[in-house]
Amino acid sequence: MTAFIEAASPHTMNTYGRLPIALERGQGCRVWDVNGKPYLDALAGIAVNTLGHNHPELVPALQDQIAKIIHSCNYYHVPNQEKLAAKLVELSGMTNVFFCNSGLEANEAALKLARKYGHDQGIACPKIVVYEKAFHGRSIATLSATGNKKVQEGFAPLVEGFVRVPLNDIEALKAAAANDPDVVAVFFETIQGEGGVNPMRADYLRQVRALCDEKNWLLMIDEVQCGMGRTGKWFAHQWAGIVPDVMPLAKGLGSGVPIGAVVAGPKAAEVFQVGNHGGTFGGNPLAMRAGVETIRIMEEDGLLENAARVGAHLKARLEEALAGRAGVREVRGHGLMLGIELERPCGVLTQRCADAGLLISVTADSVIRLVPPLILTLAEADEIVARLVPLVHAFLTESA
Ligand SMILES: Cc1ncc(COP(=O)(O)O)c(C=O)c1O
Repeated sequence: MTAFIEAASPHTMNTYGRLPIALERGQGCRVWDVNGKPYLDALAGIAVNTLGHNHPELVPALQDQIAKIIHSCNYYHVPNQEKLAAKLVELSGMTNVFFCNSGLEANEAALKLARKYGHDQGIACPKIVVYEKAFHGRSIATLSATGNKKVQEGFAPLVEGFVRVPLNDIEALKAAAANDPDVVAVFFETIQGEGGVNPMRADYLRQVRALCDEKNWLLMIDEVQCGMGRTGKWFAHQWAGIVPDVMPLAKGLGSGVPIGAVVAGPKAAEVFQVGNHGGTFGGNPLAMRAGVETIRIMEEDGLLENAARVGAHLKARLEEALAGRAGVREVRGHGLMLGIELERPCGVLTQRCADAGLLISVTADSVIRLVPPLILTLAEADEIVARLVPLVHAFLTESA
């Protein structure tokens, strides 16, 4: 194993602080490393493997697609683009979709769209409201929108035209933006992922929707991590009963096959015209088949209900097991997007959990993040608790 890692590392750029683990195969919510060690997967490749691993219906569908055609390009029609777009329109209550390959690409497209929306109204330097602790990706524009200095460090000059506000504070939003004639859009995650599993409150979401309507701003909601059924609704903002104007998606949409999408409502759907945006791989036949099949299987297997039910159980069990424990700030999140905030940085728990056969991540230094596949069973949720909680207790005791 050590030999494999040493042999593998000299030629890839040093961009990731990797654990000394290489995963070789998976089945359901379990994965095995190259040494045959099993793990329960409570990370799902960072909220990606919606259907778990080696799904008995997804794999043959992808094999079938690969044998037919993997890539064609957007010079031609791709029938499954239309099929997946129609499904996303139905699920979101919005109207049109642009396809790309990742979360940052979806957000990059949304930012471009907002700027063009402004220019179309004669605003020469349009501004977009973004949030503290936000994470939208690592391209130059999306890292400029991100509210994390570590992500931005070393990459100045950043892209201009962002106004930053705190979460869940409608007065702060009004103070920062309501009198600025250059503001054209408000952009946030319904539940911040990398920022530490921080939900926007439902009443705040409704207030922002109303303000966007009043000011004619675009409401742009990044559902890259919290969307695609993870919270028990197709999109996390649907808990607040609102519909955004622009919604970037990625991660779980392809259950492991790279994919991104920007869903737009009537206010935004016609902003891009031929030649305004595009890419070689976006909407390719393989990714589109993955999206179509992922959603079909989610619907047939009731995975939204499963995410809500198993997620509520997991949260309750964690709350119970950690109730009153000094050093634990909060268990928060919805469905199968949960965070446990400790009072101090706890990055070491990632390795310790892996040693104990559990894959998790720690985000924002002190938040244990659980984003398992949406097929997680109640028994597997109990297993997460059984493996994780003793390690949290031991960590808090030693660092007290
Ligand atoms: C909310 C959100 N937006 C955008 C991104 C960037 O997505 P990608 O890594 O696919 O570029 C992420 C990734 O973690 C994310 O959580």
